Amino acid sequence: MLSIVIYDSQFGNTEKIAQAIANSIPSAKALRVGETDPEDLKGVGLLIIGSPTQGGRATVALQEFLESIPTGTLTKTKVAAFDTRFSEKNSNFLLKLIIRTFDYAAPKIAKTLESKGGKLIIPPEGFIVSGKEGPMAEGELERAKLWGSKLS
Ligand SMILES: Cc1cc2nc3c(=O)[nH]c(=O)nc-3n(C[C@H](O)[C@H](O)[C@H](O)COP(=O)(O)O)c2cc1C
Repeated sequence: MLSIVIYDSQFGNTEKIAQAIANSIPSAKALRVGETDPEDLKGVGLLIIGSPTQGGRATVALQEFLESIPTGTLTKTKVAAFDTRFSEKNSNFLLKLIIRTFDYAAPKIAKTLESKGGKLIIPPEGFIVSGKEGPMAEGELERAKLWGSKLS
């Protein structure tokens, strides 16, 4: 089964999570958005998409990529979505309000993948960064490997 992780990353944290997930899936590869054409996704068995949460959504590049997947492309594809994000628990009042209002990127990615025909096989997941530019919070890379190992 062909398995691909497609991600975007501004500061490198989501890239690390994407690679940890790809390493935990037999013969999977991680590709940055832009390295693959949405038309090439036909025939992919397992597609995992991840993005930093920015303003409650995926990055613009990743959103554009998702929107450009032709409808029905993923009808035979298992899909999963993840993001990186701030922890609501450790946020100040304003950030908590932003998070509660706009939510995170992964649920929106999952919805779009389903709208293209993909079969969601695990709930959307978020991995916590300790600041805007990282690093990932303690234990998150290990948690990503574990999450990835449940997918295949
Ligand atoms: C412009 C911008 C907007 C952001 N908005 C949110 C947000 O709405 N919610 C959140 O949890 N984190 C937010 N963050 C923090 C990012 O999720 C964090 O920078 C990201 O996880 C880092 O991943 P990267 O190293 O792959 O870019 C934002 C960061 C930036 C730069």
